[in-house]
Amino acid sequence: MKKIIIAIDGYSSCGKSTMAKELARQIGYIYIDSGAMYRSVTLFCLENNLCNGKEINTTALQQALPSLEISFKLDPETQKPVTYLNGTNVENKIRSLEVSNHVSPVAALPFVREALVKQQQAMGKSKGIVMDGRDIQTVVFPNAELKIFVTASAEVRAERRFKELQEKGQPATYETVLKNVKDRDYIDEHRKVSPLRKADDAIILDNSNLTIDEQNAWLLEQYHKIVDE
Ligand code: DC
Repeated sequence: MKKIIIAIDGYSSCGKSTMAKELARQIGYIYIDSGAMYRSVTLFCLENNLCNGKEINTTALQQALPSLEISFKLDPETQKPVTYLNGTNVENKIRSLEVSNHVSPVAALPFVREALVKQQQAMGKSKGIVMDGRDIQTVVFPNAELKIFVTASAEVRAERRFKELQEKGQPATYETVLKNVKDRDYIDEHRKVSPLRKADDAIILDNSNLTIDEQNAWLLEQYHKIVDE
């Protein structure tokens, strides 16, 4: 069966990763969470005092960036992908509210995007990949065979994110999470470099009222429409 590239973009916390991960598992493709890569760089900044308030020490970050190694491994127990930064499992740390609050300005830095986009394109060389993010269908893989743009209301997304943080025992209020979701939407859509945008040939999925099973089934159907033709 022919191998394709599947590019899934959309707003934060709209369930992109959940559906992308499940599709990759079902069809035996590699799954790459590009947001986890921007989050890992942000974690590095926070842990090395390169991010104080709104200021980012871009000179130091630019110097350090080539030595940052971001990779993904499947957890043998859960079969879920885990993010590693320089050999350390950072999966939980990169999902904290602190990283969420600092990631947008880091992801808006052109030199950070350039470096990560290169790595992402290398990962998709042999196709057979599902990647999710903000600029996958417009910048990373503009020729992807299947492009999906996912949306859901800010309130629905904040509710999902809030529950996720609660389940992990991470402190947050619904109001802070909603503010974070709205702030990130604004920055993601309005930044100069690679703003979040639907590709002209992408299919829109509004999943505000869909269950996870329903959206997984919908996505699998889109995949089959392309590979079975
Ligand atoms: O999908 P996420 O919430 O984990 O993404 C974290 C941040 O990284 C988000 O604020 C936008 C940014 N991002 C990006 O700019 N480009 C991508 N391809 C993926 C994520």
